[in-house]
Amino acid sequence: MRMVDIIEKKRDNHPLSKKEIDFFVEGYTQGHIPDYQVSALLMAIYFNSMDDDEATHFTNAILNSGDIIDLSSIEGIKVDKHSTGGVGDKTTLVLGPLVAACGAKFAKLSGRGLGHTGGTLDKLESIEGFNISLSNEAFIDQVNKLNLAVAGQTSSLAPADKALYALRDVTGTVPSIPLIAASIMSKKLASGADVIVLDVKIGEGAFMKTLEEARELARIMVKIGKNFDKKVVAFITDMSEPLGFAVGNKLEVLEAIRTLQGNGPKDLQELSVEIGAHLVHQAGLVENLKEARKMINEKISSLEASDKFKALVEAQNGTYPNLEDYIKTKGIVAVKAESSGYIKSLNALDIGLSAMRLGAGRTTKDDKIDADVGIVLNKKVGNKVEKGEDLAYVYTNKENIDEELKTVLNAFTISEEPVEDNPLIYEVIE
Ligand code: URA
Repeated sequence: MRMVDIIEKKRDNHPLSKKEIDFFVEGYTQGHIPDYQVSALLMAIYFNSMDDDEATHFTNAILNSGDIIDLSSIEGIKVDKHSTGGVGDKTTLVLGPLVAACGAKFAKLSGRGLGHTGGTLDKLESIEGFNISLSNEAFIDQVNKLNLAVAGQTSSLAPADKALYALRDVTGTVPSIPLIAASIMSKKLASGADVIVLDVKIGEGAFMKTLEEARELARIMVKIGKNFDKKVVAFITDMSEPLGFAVGNKLEVLEAIRTLQGNGPKDLQELSVEIGAHLVHQAGLVENLKEARKMINEKISSLEASDKFKALVEAQNGTYPNLEDYIKTKGIVAVKAESSGYIKSLNALDIGLSAMRLGAGRTTKDDKIDADVGIVLNKKVGNKVEKGEDLAYVYTNKENIDEELKTVLNAFTISEEPVEDNPLIYEVIE
């Protein structure tokens, strides 16, 4: 087989066979096929796409490039969740303890944030001492004891994805639906759960900008999961504005804890309960979604879910935060509205990028994160605002942040007319 023939076949819009897909994924991962040929193929896939069979073969090839975690020694149904990435998305921190308190086995391998989107590992590591490097044995043992563990993906999990993603990142081929679907699903399948709930984000702060694109990504990922005999449900949810109020690592941990105590933002609470209800239902712990929601809400009001989060932190060597004086920055600067009216839009991408530049995220893989800094919104889409009222608070350790204050102010659009908020959950695809 020759790589050039595979490139020409995809260039001319013909489907690739399993053998051809295995050939280039294996060849690239083992260093036999050069970057320039794989780049050309990725661009051909970007333009001519892949059908469901090709996407499934591609997922399979990436999945088999590394270790597949065997969770069979955990009793019961193992559940997992994945978000395509967003701003202020701390759902995993809330959801894990919620479903674990209900009896589901939440075994999650998470990633770091890059660019304007945050990552669960960075949020957890902002907790003093929290250890995300668990051996397979320790991970399984903790899920058996606590129903809950969150660890970092090791480099032996889907190594082909790591290599291909790095190449996509520098060749303009990240936003291809089958490439994203195979990248995400290979890692989810390698992580070994029986039930997977996917949260496909749409809007300014997400990869998918339209409902049609998000629907197609969700559909193909559900199909791939079914082809591997997994139960997969995909949510399509809003990321035109940030989720919740807090953006930044410690700020988000604090908001997650408050949500677990029943005092969180409405959107974060609703999304966590809905995704949690599907996980608990798919895990067979209740008869229907109504019962699942009831069970989850009871775990919040009884504080069992918030105790589970504390147990997770302690099991992974962390020091549970003292909520009163958790965030320590040199300054907290209010951004004030320059006119009265209603918040028409709040650009998640601009807020995410601004938080990143303040130090909450990385522009390159090696950047160091400042765990305390970030942005807390005081107004969200649909809210009424008076001129001079606080729109947001910028938590900073930097001296000159005039540009960021401007960016945060300009992320808000204010209209004189009342505005309806976007739906939080657009669709659930099963
Ligand atoms: N997240 C992933 O893991 N892979 C992609 O390709 C895009 C988002």
